[in-house]
Amino acid sequence: MILPKTMPLLLFLVSQIAICLIFTHFYRYNFNSTSRREGLKTTHVLVLSSWRSGSSLVGQLFGQHPDVFYLMEPSWHIWTTFTESTPWRLHMAVRDLIRAIFLCDMSVFDAYLEPGPRKQSSLFQWETSRALCSPPACDILPRDTIIPRAHCKLLCSKQPFEVVEKACRNYSHVVVKEVRFFNLQVLYPLLRDPSLNLYILHLVRDPRAVFRSREQTREDLKIDSKIVMGQEWQELKEDDRPYHVLQVICQSQLEIYKAVQTLPKALKQRYLLLRYEDLVRDPLAQTARMYEYAGLKFLPHLRTWVHNITRGKGMGNNAFFTDSRDALKTSQAWRWSLPYGKVPRIQKVCGDSMKLFGYRLVRSEQEQRNLSLDLLSAWNPAGQFYEED
Ligand SMILES: *[C@@H]1O[C@H](CO)[C@@H](O)[C@H](O)[C@H]1NC(C)=O
Ligand SMILES: *[C@@H]1O[C@H](CO)[C@@H](O)[C@H](O)[C@H]1NC(C)=O
Ligand SMILES: *[C@@H]1O[C@H](CO)[C@@H](O)[C@H](O)[C@H]1NC(C)=O
Repeated sequence: MILPKTMPLLLFLVSQIAICLIFTHFYRYNFNSTSRREGLKTTHVLVLSSWRSGSSLVGQLFGQHPDVFYLMEPSWHIWTTFTESTPWRLHMAVRDLIRAIFLCDMSVFDAYLEPGPRKQSSLFQWETSRALCSPPACDILPRDTIIPRAHCKLLCSKQPFEVVEKACRNYSHVVVKEVRFFNLQVLYPLLRDPSLNLYILHLVRDPRAVFRSREQTREDLKIDSKIVMGQEWQELKEDDRPYHVLQVICQSQLEIYKAVQTLPKALKQRYLLLRYEDLVRDPLAQTARMYEYAGLKFLPHLRTWVHNITRGKGMGNNAFFTDSRDALKTSQAWRWSLPYGKVPRIQKVCGDSMKLFGYRLVRSEQEQRNLSLDLLSAWNPAGQFYEED
């Protein structure tokens, strides 16, 4: 039995121990925050890519997973609000938006959505998120099946905005796909944030294929291209602009990769580079790799579906969405449809990043058209590419 006299002392000791524990807890998080965040229940994945680089497909691979709450390009709301800005001026706003989404705080959209009553369908491309098409966001469609966006749009567009946050909190993984980051430095605070358990998946694609695909969607990308170019938009001739935009994109992809190499080892493990071409050559193996990295199970119905969408027939009915089409063939389309006259200039503005990511240059139209010539250098699992010849 404790005597009343010793009670204050005991309380004092208990409180000191508690303070000590709390202190070491935060100390550990603040100074050792690069290790795996054991205490956190949610995993956050940022699919980092650029326009027309296969990120819709990769986004879908995550978005259709029953453990994932997914949003596609939420920063679209910021960029379309500040169309006269530059990517660098908007970086911090984009980063803060992503951080809030990872923490399921959707009030962050208040600044960018129209005033008045909102629906979940106020969000850009909301219907690409299976989580917003099934319980607890929308009770009509089952959670553990593949949900086509058309079905979702038809059945779930009237849900109030509040369900977005509710749904987000229901999942073990929050995945966001973004094409509007132009360096890695802006993301350092998120990598070190003790309340986040962030994994970055960096998706790159052959710039010649990106260029061709961008040409086909030039009108849709007009606002974005203008922001990417900033001041240069006025100064360059219309024909030169696409090369300049591509140069900025290639340069930023290169710099992101190089910045990772300077990170401490524990943070390097939070980065995975994926080439779109490797994904379409072996969708099942590369999807397995992505899921493993993110800590997701490759469920049987997802395996069948991945096989279906990457080896299906037809080219899909909308350039921005991946459904049944032969992804491998699509990835090669630039070889026969891009005029050779444009190729040397693309290879010039993107030469450094092509060399780094293992895309071989062509020196003639004959080489470009010759599909027996493999332009992809071998993949080295250590994360480096090398020329075999
Ligand atoms: C997730 O949603 C389901 C279905 O609405 C519900 O039964 C479950 O309790 C929720 N789980 C969490 C962790 O919110
Ligand atoms: C895959 O394709 C087959 C044949 O078209 C279809 O019956 C099946 O439902 C598809 N499965 C998935 C999960 O998409
Ligand atoms: C196409 O490339 C292959 C592999 O390098 C080569 O053997 C072949 O001669 C080339 N064909 C033409 C028509 O250039």
